Amino acid sequence: MEWGMANRLARTIKPDGHCFYLALDHGYFQGPTHKLENPGQTAQPLLKYVDAVFIPRGSLRSTFDPKMETPVILRVSGGNSMIGDDLSNEEVSVSIQEMLRLNASAVGISVYVGGKYEHQSIMALAKLVDTCNDYGMPVMAVTAVGREEEKKTARYLGLACRVCAEQGATVVKTYYCEDFEKVVQGCPVPVVIAGGPKTDNDLEVMQFVYDGIQRGAIGVNLGRNIWQNESPQAMACALQAIIHEDASPEAAFEIYQEIKNSSKA
Ligand code: R5P
Repeated sequence: MEWGMANRLARTIKPDGHCFYLALDHGYFQGPTHKLENPGQTAQPLLKYVDAVFIPRGSLRSTFDPKMETPVILRVSGGNSMIGDDLSNEEVSVSIQEMLRLNASAVGISVYVGGKYEHQSIMALAKLVDTCNDYGMPVMAVTAVGREEEKKTARYLGLACRVCAEQGATVVKTYYCEDFEKVVQGCPVPVVIAGGPKTDNDLEVMQFVYDGIQRGAIGVNLGRNIWQNESPQAMACALQAIIHEDASPEAAFEIYQEIKNSSKA
């Protein structure tokens, strides 16, 4: 692997081979999401627990301190919105010069396999990989399902991950699902798990992160279940213990409760 690519990857995947990304990119298509009105402010107390932030250029520039040390995975696809016709109508929305100017350690793009704009979406990934390879920039492909939640099966996600890997994605982000190990086994590049809407069961989040890693994911890219939690720092610390210290969900839950209760004291 070329030195620059290896160096960038080493910033976002730790020596234990695992990674913890904080997803803060929701505004690029869904606007001012609850608790993400100011992403920099939301992220600030969590930065010490995570390995990178996944963020679009707008809120990176306007709400993050450029002196921060946490690596940036830049969201570089867009062109759609929650109120538009079809979420899969996305393209690459950021130039390579801008990716380098913002000192991105990696970039992320959604890919809508099976969506209305499937061809455009897969070709956007392929072209982004070509451009990024010239500059040693890793590409994270996000297997996006749009509004079609029923697509979150091992069969569909396995297919989508493989398509992204074959187009040259460095890492693929997908959802945790039943028979998740089949998704990982069919994907020749590392897989990271995404989150989903906020759940009321904190232990459940820890359980699915733990299970995902046991079944082959190298880490997570999580958002709402961290920063919409009533104690985001406690949740981030607990997840860090699972991802990097091999803590069980139960041990992580104890960490969570301890920090949550001490912050109330
Ligand atoms: C994916 O494309 C989204 O923009 C988020 O990065 C991803 O869904 C992870 O965030 P959450 O855990 O809130 O679902």
